[in-house]
Amino acid sequence: MSDQQPIQPEWPVWYEPSSPLAAAVRYVAALSPRFNWVGIYVLKGNFLELGPSIGPPSEHTRIRVGEGVCGTAVSENADQNVPDVRERENYLACSLETRSELVVLIRDRAGKILGQIDIDSHVWSAFGPDEESQVRQVARELGELWQESENRYQL
Ligand code: SME
Repeated sequence: MSDQQPIQPEWPVWYEPSSPLAAAVRYVAALSPRFNWVGIYVLKGNFLELGPSIGPPSEHTRIRVGEGVCGTAVSENADQNVPDVRERENYLACSLETRSELVVLIRDRAGKILGQIDIDSHVWSAFGPDEESQVRQVARELGELWQESENRYQL
C-alpha cells in the first residue's frame, strides 16, 4: 500500500503510513549495532501492550503501569535511561544478556502519553546523549503522526 501513497513533505524519512509503528522500530533498530532489542509498547488503560519489536521475543507483552522500567516511565511521566539494569530492583528481564535499557515516552501534541519506545542493549551504559536525542526525535515524530495513523489504520 505504501507505494500508492503520495509522498508528504512533512513525513519523517522513516515513516510508512500503512505500518508506522513497525517502520519506527525498524528505523530505530538500525541506528546502532548496540540496540539489541527494540520495541514499541502502546498504553491501553493501565497497561502497556507490546506492539512491533525486533530482537528475541519478549515474554513481557503486557506490563502494568508502575511495574518494571517500562511501567515506571509512565507512572513517573519520565523517560528512563538505565545504564546498568542490575541497579534497578523492579527491572523485568527480557533477555539475560541485557545490560542497559532506554525507554522514551511517545506523547501526543497535548502531552498525553500514548506509548513508548523501549531499547535493550547487551552493552553497559549504551545510551548517551546522542542516542537519547535520536530516539526522542523518532518518538516525537511518531506522537505527532499517531492520531492520523490510529484513525486510518488502527494501530
Ligand atoms: N525491561 C523492561 C521489560 C521489557 S523487556 O525489556 C522487552 C522493564 O523492566 O520494564
